[in-house]
Amino acid sequence: MSAAVIPFEPRVEPVEGPDRDLRGEEEIRPPFTLVIFGASGDLTRRLLAPAIAHLLRDGSVSPEFAIIGLARSEMSDAEFRAYLDGGAREFTPPTQGRPGELPSIVQYIAGDFGDAGLYGRLKAAIDAIEGKRGGPKNRIFYLATPPEADPAIVNLLGEKGLARPEGGWARVVVEKPFGHDLQSGKELNDELRTVFQERQIYRIDHYLGKETVQNIFVLRFANGVFEPLWNNRYIDHVQIAVSETIGVGHRAGYYDSAGVVRDMFQNHLLQLLCLTAMEPPVAFEADAVRAEKVKVLQSIRQIPENAIDEWAVRGQYGPGVVEGKKVPGYREEEKVNPQSNTPTYAAVKFAIDNWRWAGVPFYVRSGKRLAERVSEIAIEFKRVPHPLFSKAAGTLNPNVLRLRIQPDEGVSLKFDAKIPGTVMQVQSVYMDFPYSKLGAPIQGGYERLLLDVTHGDQTLFTRGDEVEQAWRVVSPILKAWEGHAPGDFPNYASGTWGPESADRFLEREGRRWRTL
Ligand code: BG6
Repeated sequence: MSAAVIPFEPRVEPVEGPDRDLRGEEEIRPPFTLVIFGASGDLTRRLLAPAIAHLLRDGSVSPEFAIIGLARSEMSDAEFRAYLDGGAREFTPPTQGRPGELPSIVQYIAGDFGDAGLYGRLKAAIDAIEGKRGGPKNRIFYLATPPEADPAIVNLLGEKGLARPEGGWARVVVEKPFGHDLQSGKELNDELRTVFQERQIYRIDHYLGKETVQNIFVLRFANGVFEPLWNNRYIDHVQIAVSETIGVGHRAGYYDSAGVVRDMFQNHLLQLLCLTAMEPPVAFEADAVRAEKVKVLQSIRQIPENAIDEWAVRGQYGPGVVEGKKVPGYREEEKVNPQSNTPTYAAVKFAIDNWRWAGVPFYVRSGKRLAERVSEIAIEFKRVPHPLFSKAAGTLNPNVLRLRIQPDEGVSLKFDAKIPGTVMQVQSVYMDFPYSKLGAPIQGGYERLLLDVTHGDQTLFTRGDEVEQAWRVVSPILKAWEGHAPGDFPNYASGTWGPESADRFLEREGRRWRTL
């Protein structure tokens, strides 16, 4: 029986703001110099350039902010400006209006990140900008670089005295991957901390920049109605899914040695799990929030390497049809080893051993080249203890609270209702809240994260111990799989919902994957 959707018109109440913002301009919109390492790369053009242009357009950052790009390839200042401008235009969705103008100072310095001379030139450029601007000497070093480059950059920034300016702040933004495993994750943390203090380090997980991910905090901690139900008494299990239609693209150089567990689970998916499972923090403030997330990670039961099949399933895509187009299999992709055993799909069961979640499995899955692009968290509640209507209605469905991260951002609650008529017939209906009803366009996430860096707010960034705990959680999966070749790869066709073994895996648990 098809389910009805109850149209839902949210009434948006005006939000009471603080009485008056007593902070000075330098606190609200501090002047700063953004130094981008890896300035000619894809991330800079696709994600940073539009975010910068949107922040400038909206007046959220000081117009006195300056950009210095660094990369190996030769480019003039004007070419670099055109590169950023092009990226901002190309990657601003039409719903978000026109991107803004870049700041008046945009410079580019070509060089090798391992060459100390480059940092002398960088220092001279920063000093000149700061001297002319006056005011605080604030710097953001953005490492849009492959992780191998990071230690040298960090060390040389330290050696040249760029990391601790007098009369200002310096912050370093690090993109994932944060290492390749627990050991290298720890080493990267140690290296960062020899030069920067933890409060200067901003490890980006772009999922935390997504509006609907931040809305998990609000849904859980601004509403009294959910919290009493948010535990093992009422929740049967949780499903978290991030399904992608894209393949590995041009990123095989990185991806073929990473795979889905490092690429998606160690960071984005475990973050979604943490936000769903964490205890209410004492304040919505960086250390309070991050401490609660770390506790969740610490409570995740170590998956036994020798019984991996009871906990996880892996897959790799073969050729198929996605969105009406024929696509090659993973092993046929550019720069992928034709015998590669890298998983592009995984489904994992996590058990959280604490009072709230004991006995509630969290089933987490993600894959590339699947049938549709969908990310969601579904909280499936236990069925009623004694069904009154089962005879007339067939099996009654459990209530499901669905947090839709993307696309069609929103929240919906599935419950049963009586179908009008003389017989008692029950049908599932949905109370649906589409995020679009709130009016404001949803931005990409980097805007919010960059702005938080300028304000020194680390709430939406991953702390060092959190990264290490996340590696601890995924390590046994990586070890078990890397120790045993799969034998059946590729085991799902592009454009499907993943390997059949994933369906059987959940059937053995007496459950089914939700239709996304
Ligand atoms: C990145 C991964 O971190 O996240 C990619 O490296 C993945 O492989 C991407 O495609 C997914 O992000 P989004 O925002 O498109 O869901």
